[in-house]
Amino acid sequence: MALCRVCKDKGIKKEADVFLKEDKLYLCEQHFNERFEKNVLSTIKKYRMAKKDDKILVALSGGKDSMALWYVLNKLGYNAKGFHIDLGIGEYSKKSKEVVLTLANILKQEVIIIDIKKELGATIPKIANKITRKTCAICGTIKRYYFNYVAHKNRFNIIATGHNFDDEVSTLFGNILQWNFKYLSKKYPVLWEDEFFPRKIKPFALTTEEEIINYVKFNKIPYITCRCPMSENTPTNYIYKEILLELSGKFRGLRKKFYKTYLKDVFPLFNQQKEKYLNKKLTHCKICGEPSLHEICSVCQIKQKLKEN
Ligand code: AMP
Ligand code: FES
Ligand code: ZN
Ligand code: ZN
Repeated sequence: MALCRVCKDKGIKKEADVFLKEDKLYLCEQHFNERFEKNVLSTIKKYRMAKKDDKILVALSGGKDSMALWYVLNKLGYNAKGFHIDLGIGEYSKKSKEVVLTLANILKQEVIIIDIKKELGATIPKIANKITRKTCAICGTIKRYYFNYVAHKNRFNIIATGHNFDDEVSTLFGNILQWNFKYLSKKYPVLWEDEFFPRKIKPFALTTEEEIINYVKFNKIPYITCRCPMSENTPTNYIYKEILLELSGKFRGLRKKFYKTYLKDVFPLFNQQKEKYLNKKLTHCKICGEPSLHEICSVCQIKQKLKEN
């Protein structure tokens, strides 16, 4: 491996521990960690995501992204509490919960755990069996519901998720291919709070998967490597990710330029007209009070259906 660029600039000859392909940069472990943490802090500040006295709820799936996020937010001194939803998907959920508890132990922090079986009376696979909708779609609705519910109940003003740069750039690419104006008018690293929702932030929106993989390795952050067994074999988003990575290998900096131009020049154009695209009116669910498009929200409807069965 070549020499660390930062050490070299300081006149020190130290072998690099990592080569970052996206930026063509060799770094030693210490300078990689420093750069990683500095970049996350600058994303948080640039998009005015959070201040040190905000109460942040970090949604932890057990995967590398959200686990690295909880770790780094703690390291940077943010008031960030962990939160995990046990979906009841066999070994996958068991292992996810285990790693979340292990990290809570390392960080000496408490974590809020929501058990779907206790909340709704059935696990995700059972719910999906009884309700004729795609498992991932039901699961997504339920997860989003509990993100908001737990934040409201415990007075957190911000929810942070682990979506990384590769996720953001590939979903943007897919939505542009389909000219999804609704997506283009609201997708941004921060979604401001309103009367219905807490603020949603993605502090890793400019952090690549490659960087996160190295950060969890160097800092020995526990995480699960297996994917949810209910998800599709090759999700479309995965194909977009691969295409963009390949293009990026050929045209240096292409992905970053594409995403940053969207954030700076394209998003504001669509966001100015968001009322045109986001035409659905929200209300509060008559049963639980959470945001809903109908009198009764999707999760309360699921609860009712499960009771009828
Ligand atoms: P995904 O849609 O599975 O890629 O997850 C996106 C983000 O949602 C993750 O980075 C986490 O922040 C959050 N998340 C996913 N699954 C869970 C879960 N079971 N409990 C809490 N947060 C989750
Ligand atoms: Fe929800 Fe897989 S995590 S269906
Ligand atoms: Zn160095
Ligand atoms: Zn409800």
